[in-house]
Amino acid sequence: MKLFSSVNDVADVKSIVAEALQLKKNPYAFQHLGKNKTLALIFLNPSLRTRMSTQKAGLNLGMNVMVLNIDKEGWALELRDGVIMNGTTVEHIREAAAVMGQYADIIGVRSFPGLKDRDEDYNETVFNKFVEYCGVPIVSLESATRHPLQSLADLVTIEELKTRPRPKVVLTWAPHIKPLPQAVPNSFAEWMCKADVDFTITHPKGYELSTDFTKGATVTHNQDEALAGADFIYVKNWSAYEPYGTIFPGNENWMLTNERLKITNNAKIMHCLPVRRDLELSAEILDGESSIVVHEAGNRVWAAQAVLKRMLEEIG
Ligand code: CP
Repeated sequence: MKLFSSVNDVADVKSIVAEALQLKKNPYAFQHLGKNKTLALIFLNPSLRTRMSTQKAGLNLGMNVMVLNIDKEGWALELRDGVIMNGTTVEHIREAAAVMGQYADIIGVRSFPGLKDRDEDYNETVFNKFVEYCGVPIVSLESATRHPLQSLADLVTIEELKTRPRPKVVLTWAPHIKPLPQAVPNSFAEWMCKADVDFTITHPKGYELSTDFTKGATVTHNQDEALAGADFIYVKNWSAYEPYGTIFPGNENWMLTNERLKITNNAKIMHCLPVRRDLELSAEILDGESSIVVHEAGNRVWAAQAVLKRMLEEIG
């Protein structure tokens, strides 16, 4: 594997999930693969889990790991081609990414969407420039439209904790006070659509995701209908795809409480984190027995490690 930016970069989803669970049992078995190899993690946006879990995954594989918060610690990057750089940007992505490729064997990049220009975001303009110019294998640490390491960890978590062969998995929209990207729900949807689960998406009218990510899913605006019999509920806010980046007033009653869970099949509650308590998800759920959000975050290590291991095997 030379690129990990979506579920489409994985030939066999089942086998990478199994590999991640094997690595969880035996984290240090492949330290020889990463000896004298360097992982560079480049952040254009904040992170807690992705940064620490991917760093730990690299260390578990014997790699040297460098982290650069390029938005704060690097030169201001120019991403546009053909411009005279007489403004605030100091270094072009062409040189910056190419130089990073001189120092690292694998690069991870986090680049959030601007949520202003849908074409620019959905063409993955920033992430793809790193792919084009860095010259080494590259892992998405969350891009404008997807968060594949998160989704792989989510599927690992479901596989690990499911109590029946084909669980009912529900992705539910949740309230928030600011417009958030569609990357996590897009990605979760496309991974679930390739997994052996019964998958439903529920959201208020207006929050339809791009159908590029939801083919095969049941979609309903009736949250109770979706929650009925659910084994796993994935809670997440997102802004509208059309009009792009919009949030509509109301819908506060979409926040889950314990009362709302009574119709589920003793559902386990997932969230990628960070989460705003009693806004996006009730504190009573987060503090209760149904929440598996911390366990899920723990599995980020094994998801990242499975991906890095495959890349190291390819590099040789
Ligand atoms: N879930 C997730 O990606 O968390 P961070 O933004 O903290 O990395």
